[in-house]
Amino acid sequence: MAPADGARGVRIPGRLLLTTAPIVFVGGKGGVGKTTLAAARALSLADAGRRVLVLSTDPAHSLGDALEVPLSDDPAAVAPNLWAAEPDAEAAVRRRVARVAEDARRAVPHEVLPAVHRHLDRAASAPGMAESALADLLIDRMDEVGRRWDHLVVDSAPTGHLLRLLDLPALLTPWVVGLARQRERALRAEAFADAVGEGAPEGDPLLERLHERRRRLERAAARLREDASVTLVTLPRRVVLAETARAVERLTGAGFRLGPVVVNQIPPEGAPGPDGAGALSATLERFAHLGVARVPLQDAEPTGIGPLRRLAPLLDTASAPG
Ligand SMILES: Nc1ncnc2c1ncn2[C@@H]1O[C@H](COP(=O)(O)OP(=O)(O)O)[C@@H](O)[C@H]1O
Ligand SMILES: [Mg+2]
Repeated sequence: MAPADGARGVRIPGRLLLTTAPIVFVGGKGGVGKTTLAAARALSLADAGRRVLVLSTDPAHSLGDALEVPLSDDPAAVAPNLWAAEPDAEAAVRRRVARVAEDARRAVPHEVLPAVHRHLDRAASAPGMAESALADLLIDRMDEVGRRWDHLVVDSAPTGHLLRLLDLPALLTPWVVGLARQRERALRAEAFADAVGEGAPEGDPLLERLHERRRRLERAAARLREDASVTLVTLPRRVVLAETARAVERLTGAGFRLGPVVVNQIPPEGAPGPDGAGALSATLERFAHLGVARVPLQDAEPTGIGPLRRLAPLLDTASAPG
């Protein structure tokens, strides 16, 4: 049976040699090793000859620290076939507000423009704005997969944010549909007032932009469910196991595919620590149905291309989903 998750793989007895979905989100609780393992995963795909972009969507970026390369909005080449970026969500909000202001300048009467600008200034700092601008940046990058990149690996923010980010395109669609309806009504009213009468509201740039935005969101929502898979990173600790289990439920419930779970920072056998072996076997058992990859605790923080490259093979095989 093919694995019922986003990781397509070749089975060898008892193991699953993983190939990877075009878009991979690496998620999990804060501090488990998402950034480290996203970078390692991206590097191993790049080493296998695939063109890969690894993108941080955690506003508290640390991808550049893991790769030991300064990063920005623009994808920077960090190794052969590997590019990395840390998009600036605040700058994206400013660009978006400027675009809406430009639309408004063309679409609304001159005398209401000051009110529109006051409204936009407030909207720019509204809760959720940075998050939705980040979703937009992510969609831009997703649109490049298949052309500019073979794989997009997303170093995600902790679980709650990741769930919202993944669901945002689907959540925003009805909102954009509502805006388009309002615009249509306004245009019909205008056409009526002009006594033109047959006000088919076509050719209106604002309305066209809203329709285009709706199509883009619908495409992204579908693609996130078809071409993407989420790799959850966890630790051999009961508290982390419990939160990973909840994330599995919520992601599966929302229709996303899950790849094998990665248990990171596994201490050497017999090492003293909180509930080491008990929590490890509970974790392995709990996620056996998804497949599990194990990554031992390293002596030193695995940062920089060399150390990340040494971690990567551990992610290429996982126990086969049971
Ligand atoms: N297998 C490992 N062994 C040792 N240190 C690790 C391992 N994985 C991650 N780390 C370290 O743990 C810390 C948190 O990792 P990071 O990838 O930033 O987590 P997250 O992105 O989930 O917050 C970093 O200092 C990182 O270098
Ligand atoms: Mg991180």
